Amino acid sequence: MLELSNLDGFYGRSRALQAVSLSVGTGEFLSVLGRNGVGKTTLLRTILGLMSRTSGSIRLDGSELIGLPTHERACAGLGYVPQGRGILPAFTVRENLLVGTFAAQSKPGPDQGRIAEWVLELFPILREFINRRGGNLSGGQQQQLAIARALLSEPKILLLDEPTEGIQPNIVEQIEQVLIDLNRDKGLTIVLVEQNLKFARRASNRFAILNRGSVSVAGAISGLTDDLIHEHLVV
Ligand SMILES: Nc1ncnc2c1ncn2[C@@H]1O[C@H](COP(=O)(O)OP(=O)(O)OP(=O)(O)O)[C@@H](O)[C@H]1O
Ligand SMILES: [Mg+2]
Repeated sequence: MLELSNLDGFYGRSRALQAVSLSVGTGEFLSVLGRNGVGKTTLLRTILGLMSRTSGSIRLDGSELIGLPTHERACAGLGYVPQGRGILPAFTVRENLLVGTFAAQSKPGPDQGRIAEWVLELFPILREFINRRGGNLSGGQQQQLAIARALLSEPKILLLDEPTEGIQPNIVEQIEQVLIDLNRDKGLTIVLVEQNLKFARRASNRFAILNRGSVSVAGAISGLTDDLIHEHLVV
């Protein structure tokens, strides 16, 4: 489904992502792991086309995305939940969710331009707070809003950047379960950047560890041994 080959990403002249090759098959759940500052966010930003320069190849279902602007990549099927959530604080929950439907507008269907019921059912609190401003929600509720907004773009693949970071434990549990169910029951392909190893292990079938902008180890999640964790992840 998503194939990255020899991918480089630059901030100005500095190369923050180096020769990354990774593939994610349909229905897989890949966790991208690594210590602070190794390039996890940069990897997602490069896939989304948010870097000043990128080289290499990013193919989604065989189509090349390199060279496309970010909104066309979203329309092509990339859903993105950025680190720190990136919701629009002055907009209501409803308005934030409607923004999410824009990328799905090109695909005709029963939910075109509407907030699909099944997404609100995943996060009932959003229905309850539909007319509140995004900025007045708690951090965990904002994260739920960011995930719901990304789902409304009807992505082929959902990319999430540390969705459990800094969030109260009861909402972390809900978010984890929703992502696991989306993958297992709905077959949604997921790439998760995560420092919460317990969650990554429970949810994913594959992992990749980044170090200084490159992939240092990748494989089936069963191969994520304590030795690897000690070598690459423990601070
Ligand atoms: N806007 C930027 N301009 C220049 N360099 C940047 C920028 N953002 C990040 N970097 C650098 O790129 C490297 C990778 O950063 P990145 O944010 O991708 O790390 P990360 O793995 O997501 O870290 P964290 O776990 O803290 O979120 C770091 O060396 C960082 O200093
Ligand atoms: Mg990051």
